[in-house]
Amino acid sequence: MTHAHITAWFLAIVLFFIALGLHKSGKAKGFRVVQMILRVFYILIIITGVWMLASISNISLLYVLKSAVGLWVIAMLELILIKTNKQQKTSSLWIQFAVAFLLALYLGFKLPLGFHFF
Ligand code: HEM
Repeated sequence: MTHAHITAWFLAIVLFFIALGLHKSGKAKGFRVVQMILRVFYILIIITGVWMLASISNISLLYVLKSAVGLWVIAMLELILIKTNKQQKTSSLWIQFAVAFLLALYLGFKLPLGFHFF
């Protein structure tokens, strides 16, 4: 399940940048379609994350933190796209995205399931 989880969030990040690229080149319809597909990926990330949580017998605070940070990343992706589409300022959201994404990677790879880079 860790592989499915990694695949889901990796593809979500790729789709996020594709959506931004489409927006920049003025392809409004393409942007909306990719935004919709991206929302399906948010659900897949959450399902695989909750699936792993369900497989753990004694959930520590770090797991709760990891999941909250993961949800924070998803919220930032969604908000950045919405605000970009409305031509509103997104700099504070980008900072939050960078912090949350690095934290999610750190906590995810530190916790016992799957790969261990930290
Ligand atoms: C875009 C958002 C997310 C990113 C970038 C992310 C990233 C990661 C990474 C890198 C791992 C480590 C995988 C491994 O060691 O093989 C991981 C594991 C995990 N993630 Fe996420 N995640 C995200 C969202 C979520 C969400 C929303 C949840 C919960 C609902 C969640 C729950 C978990 C759990 C329980 C693990 C297993 C931790 C362990 O290694 O023991 N993640 N995630």
